[in-house]
Amino acid sequence: MSKTVLLILGASGDLTKRKLIPALSTIYSKNMLPEELIVIGSARTEYTTDEFRTHVNTSEEFCKCLYYYTGLKNIKEYIYSFGNITKIVVFLSLPPSTYKQTIEDLYNENLHGDNVSIIIEKPFGVDVYSALELEKNILKYYPTKSIYLIDHYLAKEPVQNILIFRFANRIFETNWNRFHIESIQINCSETIGIEDRAKYFDKSGIIRDMIQSHLMQLLTILTMETPKSNFQHDIEIEKVKLLKKLKVINFVRGQYNGYTNEKGVDSKSTTETYAEVEFRIESDRWHNIPIYIKTGKAMERQGTEIAVVFRNSDNPIFKNDKLQKNAIIFTVQPQSGIFVDLVNKVPGWGVSLTNANMSFCYSSKFSGNIPDAYQRLLVDAINSDKSLFAGVEETIEAWRVIEPALQNSDLIYYDRGKNPPDILNKNPIDFNNYSNLC
Ligand code: NDP
Ligand code: BG6
Repeated sequence: MSKTVLLILGASGDLTKRKLIPALSTIYSKNMLPEELIVIGSARTEYTTDEFRTHVNTSEEFCKCLYYYTGLKNIKEYIYSFGNITKIVVFLSLPPSTYKQTIEDLYNENLHGDNVSIIIEKPFGVDVYSALELEKNILKYYPTKSIYLIDHYLAKEPVQNILIFRFANRIFETNWNRFHIESIQINCSETIGIEDRAKYFDKSGIIRDMIQSHLMQLLTILTMETPKSNFQHDIEIEKVKLLKKLKVINFVRGQYNGYTNEKGVDSKSTTETYAEVEFRIESDRWHNIPIYIKTGKAMERQGTEIAVVFRNSDNPIFKNDKLQKNAIIFTVQPQSGIFVDLVNKVPGWGVSLTNANMSFCYSSKFSGNIPDAYQRLLVDAINSDKSLFAGVEETIEAWRVIEPALQNSDLIYYDRGKNPPDILNKNPIDFNNYSNLC
C-alpha cells in the first residue's frame, strides 16, 4: 500500500510539541489523515523513537504512526525503509536562520522530485533583501509549486470568513470605501511575554514577528479589491496590488519594563515588544483613510480584533443628536464573532437614540465544529491544497511596506499587564466592550 510521510525537522522544539503534535493527534483521531501516514520527527538531539514519543506526550493511538530520526544524514533511506512511499511532506519547524542550509541539505540527501513538498514557517526572511535571497536560494533546488509558506492566521476560521463577509454580503460590500468608512483598526494583544523565545524574539521584535505577517494579512484581506476567484493565486494577485499602494505613515515602538531582564535578552536591548503603526492606501477606494495596527506582548488582556468604523450619519433630522458611530467588529479570538454596532431608538415616548449591536458568535452558531489553524494547514498541505498558505510574492511585498518601521527609534515603556496609551489613533475602539459578548 502506498504511504505518505510527514517529516518534521526541528522536532525537538517548541512548535512541534505545543502545536504540531497536538494538531496531528486530533486530526488523526478524526480520521482526517491518510490511513498510511507516517510522521517522522527529526532534529540534532539524539532521541530514540520511544524517547521522542515520551517527549511530545501524545495519545497512544497516534504514537503508532510517530517515529524519530536523528539528523538528516541518509534520511531518504530511513524514509523508504517504511515501504512504498508516494508522497513526502517536509515541515521546517526550525529557526529561520537555518532554512537556506536545510533546504540545500535536503536536496543533497536526494529528497526532491514531484512527490516532495516543503512547508516553511514564518518568518520568511527578516527584511526585503533577506526574503529575496531566501527565495532565490530555494528556487535553486525546489520549484515554487513545492513550497508552502505558513501564516497560520490565514487558516483561522474567523479570518477565512472575512473574505466571505466582504464579498458575499451585498449590504456591506457597497459601503466598503472611504465615502462610508472612517478608519480601520486592527488589534492583537497578548498577555504572555516572550516566554522562552528570547533567542528568536530579541532579534526580531513584534513588528517583524506579528505585523509583517499575521496582522498585515488581516489588513490586506480587509482592503483588497475583489479577487477573480477564491483560489489562493487570484487572492494573492489582489493582495500584492494592494500592498504596492500601502504605506507606513507613522509608528510607535514600546517595550515592557523588565524585558531586558528576561532570560536570554540582551541587557541593553532596544527590541520592541509593542507597536502601533498607522498606514494609508493610495487608491481611489481608500485615499486618506487611516488604518491602525496595534499589537503587544505582556498586555492587559488577550484578544485579536478588528474594527471597521463608519462615518457618522449626516442626515439633517439627527443634527441635534449626538450619534455614535456604526462599526463592524470582528473578534478573531479568544471568542470568535462579528458585531455590528447600530444606532437605535430607545423604547419610550420621546425620541432618544442609543447604540445596540447585532451579534453573531461562532460558539452558539457552530459549536464543536471549528478546526484549529494548524489542523487545517497540516491536512491541506498533505492533500497538496495551497489555498490557505501565503504566497512568496505577497510576503516579500509586505517586507517592502513595513521596512520604514523596522528602524531603531525611541521606545515608550509600559508595565507588564498594562496597556501603553494609543498615540497615533486618537479615537481607538475599546475592544473590551466586545470581549464578553460571546
Ligand atoms: P525552537 O527554537 O524551539 O527550535 C526548533 C528546533 O530547531 C530546536 O529544537 C533545534 O533542535 C533545531 N535547531 C536549532 N538551531 C538549529 C540549527 N542551527 N540547525 C539545525 N537545527 C537547529 O523553535 P520553535 O519550535 O519555537 O519554532 C520553529 C519555527 O516555527 C520557527 O521558524 C518559528 O518562527 C516558527 N513559529 C513558532 C511558533 C511557536 O509558538 N513556537 C509560532 C509560530 C511560528 P536540535 O537542537 O535538536 O536540532
Ligand atoms: C506567532 C508569533 O507567529 O504567533 C508569536 O511568533 C505569537 O509571537 C503567535 O504569540 C500568536 O499566534 P496566536 O495563534 O496565538 O494568535
